[in-house]
Formats: sequence, C-alpha cells, structure tokens
Amino acid sequence: MNSQTLREARKYEEATEKMIAAEQRPAFHLSTRVGWLNDPNGFSYYKGQYHMFYQYYPYATYWGPMHWGHAVSRDLLHWEYLPAVLAPDSPYDRDGCFSGNAIELPDGRQLLMYTGVLNMPQPEGGSREIQTQCIAVGDGVDYEKYEGNPVLDEKDLPEGSSRYDFRDPKPWRKADGTYRCVVGSRPADGSGQILLYSSEDGFHWKFEKVLAENKNRFGKMWECPDFFPLDGKQVLFTSPQDMLPQGFEYHNGNGTLCLIGTYDEETETFTEEKNQAIDYGIDFYAPQTILTPDGRRVMIGWMQNWDTCNMHQRMKEGWFGQMSLPREISIKNGRLYQKPLRELEALRHDKVSYEDVEFTGIISLDGIKGRRVDMEIEIFPGDEEHVYQKFAVRFAQNEQYQTSISYRPHESVLKVDRKFSGSRRAIIHQRRCEVASEKGVIKLRMILDRFSVEVFVNDGAKVMTATTYTTQEADGISFYAVGKVRMNVTKWDLSE
Ligand code: FRU
Repeated sequence: MNSQTLREARKYEEATEKMIAAEQRPAFHLSTRVGWLNDPNGFSYYKGQYHMFYQYYPYATYWGPMHWGHAVSRDLLHWEYLPAVLAPDSPYDRDGCFSGNAIELPDGRQLLMYTGVLNMPQPEGGSREIQTQCIAVGDGVDYEKYEGNPVLDEKDLPEGSSRYDFRDPKPWRKADGTYRCVVGSRPADGSGQILLYSSEDGFHWKFEKVLAENKNRFGKMWECPDFFPLDGKQVLFTSPQDMLPQGFEYHNGNGTLCLIGTYDEETETFTEEKNQAIDYGIDFYAPQTILTPDGRRVMIGWMQNWDTCNMHQRMKEGWFGQMSLPREISIKNGRLYQKPLRELEALRHDKVSYEDVEFTGIISLDGIKGRRVDMEIEIFPGDEEHVYQKFAVRFAQNEQYQTSISYRPHESVLKVDRKFSGSRRAIIHQRRCEVASEKGVIKLRMILDRFSVEVFVNDGAKVMTATTYTTQEADGISFYAVGKVRMNVTKWDLSE
C-alpha cells in the first residue's frame, strides 16, 4: 500500500510534467521528471530494461525532503518516467530517503537499499540527521518498505563512527548467493571510510570490516561508494566532501575519487594502488555503475556540483538536475578511461567533416554549430618547429554567451571556461586539468546536449564535464589559435 505522501508525489509529478516542453530539457541525458534531481540511485538492469532511480524533490527546483524518482530505458539514452517509488513517509525515514542501490533477489523481486534520515533534536539545541540503512522490495514499479527497517543502524557501526554520517549503501550479490554491501561512513578522525557488510538473504546484515580508510587524505566524509572489478583490477569509487586540491587533481570541493587496486576475495581485503579524480570538469558527482547484459561496465553520475547548484534554484522551466552521459569505463595502464556509450552513435546525423584546416586567429567553419552535437577534433601543430601557444574551441556562442575549451601545449593544461555562460554570481567558472602532449597533438570529443558539454580527451584518458544553462539560440561554434594549428574536425548533429 502506498502512503499518502507517495500518492501525492505521484499525482503531483504526473500533473506538472506536462508544463515542461520537451525542448526545454536535454534530449538524451536523463533529467528530473519535475522539480529537483541529485544523485543517481539504484542504477540497474532489471526485467529487460535499465532502471534509474534518483534523489528527487518533486515540489521545487531546489533540494528538499528526498524521494526517489524513477525512469526506465532500453538504450540508456531515451528514458521513460515511471511513478516515484519512495517518499519520506516512515518513522525511520521521515526526513528523507537518501541515496542507495538496487539488486535483484533470487525470487525475481528487486530490492532497493537506501539511507533513511531522521532529524533528531539535540540536547544542546538544534537537530541532527540520524542516518540508517533501509530496504524496500518491489516489482519494478511499486515498492514496499520492509517491516524490519532499518536493517543497519548505529549498533552496526565500528567504534567511534558517526551515526550522522552513515549513508549511500551499495549492495551486490556474490557468485555464491550471499550478499555484500559497502556504505559511506565517518570515523573518529573526522574523515571518511567505507564499511563492508554481509548478508545471507539481502535483508539481515552484519558488519564485516572497514574496507577502505581515508585517513584525511582525500577530503572528509566519503559519500556514494561503488565497488567493482574492472579489467583485472578492483575499483572503489567514492565522492568525498570537502576536498583539498592536489596539483591538478581534486579541485571540486565535493569531488570524485577513483581508487584502483586489488581485491582478495578470501580475506575481503582491498589494497589501493592508484588514485585519481573521475571527472576533471565542474559538474560531476556521485556516479554509479552497472554491468550491461553484454558485459560493459557503464557509469552515470549527477551532472552538477553542490557548490553551484543553488544558483539555478529559480529555473523557470520547472526542472533542475540532470545525469551525465552513460560512459563505458575501463582501466588502461593503471588509469580510468571513459567513453560515451556506443549507442550514442545511433543518434548521429548530418555529418560535416573538415581535414587539415590550418589557421591562426579565429575561424568558424560552414555547418559547424549547434547545441546537440557530437564533435571530434584532432589538433596538430601547424608548424612542427614552433608549436602553437594556444588552441580553443568556443561553443554555445552568440554575441553575449560562450563556453570554451582551451589547450596550452607548453603548459600541458586543458581548461574549460564558462564564465560567459549566464551566471550572475562570482562562482567557479573554470577548471584546469593536466594533459601532456607531444608537440601539441591532442584529440577531443565533445558531446553537447542543450545544457551541457562533456569533453573526452585522448580517447577517454580524461573527461571534463560542465553544464551551460544559456539560451539555445547561442549555438555558434568557433575555433581560435595563437600560433599555427592544423586540425581535423568531424561533427554530427544528435537527434532526440
Ligand atoms: C550526495 C548526497 C548523498 C546523500 C544524498 C542526499 O550528493 O549528499 O550522500 O545520500 O546526496 O540527497
């Protein structure tokens, strides 16, 4: 039986989504049905289609008591909304159903594991959120909260860990039929850690061990863990809060961390080897991954960041919050690689292609423009003896607005800059990342979808993501070089 709170949310979203015209949304990125969206939740393949749930406040374009929204897709690019599945309506999650994940039970039902939030008045005044792990079980449309909730609470924490920062469970089913789950947590040192729990049936959980410790190296609290094997390695994803920059890594405040290492299944020991950011742009957080039926590991993140998301609170379009492109991920030479989901190529049409364009200064090219675009650019020095100083591509451009990606080979710096993208606030508009090259030779693939750009550098060795909420009439694209650049450009428009 659905609660009154959930029934109201379902009624509200159905009535209000009609006010949002299709062209006011991204075409092939999942956006919220109405209101607000943050983290991806319960990303899964279930009953023959992909399911994406999400952190959802239907009633306004800002964050509020969290529900779970729901959409399904056959290709991860075209989504159909289903009714919201969770509302903050129970004694243990009255103040929010926070992030979590999904698994399929052997009897064919889907189990959602999420964080229940309860605001508790504190003896010293004010209140704090108590966070516990909870379960709901359903059939892909309707979900019933488990009568044994919460299934993990402060009694299941190792000594000294905070009951206020205990969230975002990621369960999985092992080959032997038992279950494991990782949860983000804050130990006594005030930073982050990832806890490992085990279960025989998916409902009764037991603390096993601390799987990974931050020890104040990468930000503070570790949110939204994901833990999976990839290309012979084991990967731990987490989104740390309050990061400090280290060189060109981790500039995002609330950033993303990819730990690559090995996992000993017997002793359940994760050994870290390498660390890096997942995305080097401005807007990417809290990613989740799945294994597709054909064996690809695909990741989707929230395409926004906590520091700037409130700038758009009053978006008149009635929605705020979108997911990143689905990205196929792999490990090469100890680094995470990302590529746009290959199904995106089916959306390409009207190819325009130029070879060996040599230029200095500003140029535009016939047929190269648009806000729903897949564009590949190969950049070479126009003069091998004097490698160019700077290359830039400016897009989402008119007289007033533009966003740019620029590369300075002598500094090995690639930069995204959206200061002319309509923000009236002095917030972060630029992000740099390190991209070394041989004589300035680099390759970019840019995907634009109305309100965003995702730049895949050198076949996915690095990715920079940024949202751009400017008018769609700003659809110009131009190129700029200081020194002599030679380039190949291929552009396709992308259909809805
Ligand atoms: C990350 C996060 C999660 C939490 C959710 C609340 O963006 O803070 O840790 O579950 O958002 O909406």
